[in-house]
Amino acid sequence: MSGSSRPTSAGDQPLLRVEQVVAGYGQIEILHGVSLEVHPQEVVSIIGPNGAGKSTAFKAIVGLITPREGQVLFDGREITGVRPDLILRRGLAYVPQGRIVFPQMTVLENLEMGAYIETDKQKVRAAMAQVFQLFPVLSERSSQKASTLSGGEQQMLAIGRALMTRPKLLLLDEPSLGLSPKFVTLVFEKVAELRAYGMTMVIVEQNAVKALSVADRGYVLELGQNRFEGTGRELLANEEVRRLYLGG
Ligand SMILES: Nc1ncnc2c1ncn2[C@@H]1O[C@H](COP(=O)(O)OP(=O)(O)OP(=O)(O)O)[C@@H](O)[C@H]1O
Ligand SMILES: [Mg+2]
Repeated sequence: MSGSSRPTSAGDQPLLRVEQVVAGYGQIEILHGVSLEVHPQEVVSIIGPNGAGKSTAFKAIVGLITPREGQVLFDGREITGVRPDLILRRGLAYVPQGRIVFPQMTVLENLEMGAYIETDKQKVRAAMAQVFQLFPVLSERSSQKASTLSGGEQQMLAIGRALMTRPKLLLLDEPSLGLSPKFVTLVFEKVAELRAYGMTMVIVEQNAVKALSVADRGYVLELGQNRFEGTGRELLANEEVRRLYLGG
């Protein structure tokens, strides 16, 4: 499915604006000035080779590492260097790479953990109902330990947990990585479903063709820098992008 059916609301204020962010680990600089924008209701994909700094960019956005230079603005406010839990409270949720769940907790407990910042029980129940609607399998397996779920189901749980805060923006880092073809398809179907609900998302993906197909816009990162950007369709049609990143 193509994103071109929906306008990319270029006139709106961006929901997320990352401006010339420089960040890394200790002395090592990984991002050398990365910029991107996400408008309300957009789905934006970030692709690029292993080690390009895609996950690092997410970590810099959600406050897990502090940018040395540059700015991150979310929902009209600066969040550069703000603590991850405070960024989550502002409505920015993040699903890290590697479908991380609490293995010894049940599916239900995992989802409840996702809503730890929410004290209103009714809101938690409403969010849970929405998550179960999107992922019926989680409802069927709600009393099962997360460790007993298949890899694909664990990824659904990781996404479901992030949705428990009813975020304004959802960052998904490699949601289809390591999954069987059936679950890769399912993950992208769920992304399309969330998109249809109006969820704003940024998706980092190895599966570049699928990611660009579901996206309104995309960015190619390489060596910690912006390399290409455009609509999903433009990037899919770009000769150089095809040759370098989409396997010809
Ligand atoms: N905690 C860390 N400490 C030191 N270096 C790190 C750390 N995490 C990542 N790096 C380095 O930062 C660079 C970018 O890593 P990052 O995980 O952001 O890449 P990526 O684009 O997400 O790659 P992949 O597609 O493999 O997930 C790599 O060279 C990596 O070795
Ligand atoms: Mg990564």
